[in-house]
Amino acid sequence: MKSSQPLEESRRVAYLNALGIALWTQKAQLQESEAVAPPEESIARQPARLQEAAAQEPQPAVDEPSLPVIDYEIIKNMDLSALAGQVASCTACDLHKTRKQTVFGVGHHKADWLIIGEAPGADEDRQGEPFVGRAGQLLTQMLRAIGLAREEVFIANILKCRPPNNRDPRAEEVSACQAYLGRQIELLEPKIILALGRIAAQSLLQTSTPIGKMRGRLYHLENYNIPVVVTYHPAYLLRSPREKRKVWEDLKFARQQAIDTV
Ligand code: URA
Repeated sequence: MKSSQPLEESRRVAYLNALGIALWTQKAQLQESEAVAPPEESIARQPARLQEAAAQEPQPAVDEPSLPVIDYEIIKNMDLSALAGQVASCTACDLHKTRKQTVFGVGHHKADWLIIGEAPGADEDRQGEPFVGRAGQLLTQMLRAIGLAREEVFIANILKCRPPNNRDPRAEEVSACQAYLGRQIELLEPKIILALGRIAAQSLLQTSTPIGKMRGRLYHLENYNIPVVVTYHPAYLLRSPREKRKVWEDLKFARQQAIDTV
């Protein structure tokens, strides 16, 4: 575990400036083995890709995010427990009407690893904890495989509330929720972020690049200079167990980044 240090003001300002549609910016480096691959078109493009990504997903048509995003000014001084309280009473999007409870995230407050999934499912909605269903059990095993106990990482989701019938998150829900994850990242200052699945990866990195092309690359959340590694969602692995080998490669890659991050 690392010691926590206050964020530089410039990073905080950069973060605030980036709020609104473009909360995060990213750049990517290639893993050595992929260094000959052509650069991704998406990497050079600017944020505001979230709506684009969402527009490609099978979901009811949504013109523009119409809900107010959470005002970062309100949460910028909150610690994790105050933030969890704020999330628990959130009504910023319609998901509050159907949730049983919010799912803030769980884990060590000085974790080196931040694992980010998509959104709570039925089990998580019932228990108030991320990744507690079958996919969560597989995630716990995946972490164990690289020597990490669930308790020593922090696990959170892009959305803090369950979308009904496990449908994909909508762009306006991601927008409404993103300051919470931003503040979590700011407080945790992890050495590595592992994004699980297409929706987590595309939302976090504001790209529409297919997940298969995002794997094996090192991204950074520039405002925080935190490395991000993308891998498949454990729910996908339950359906396609042959892909576990690739996830194992991704986990080893992420572990190396965490070691390299000072
Ligand atoms: N899938 C996710 O993406 N997150 C959870 O918390 C559970 C399942």
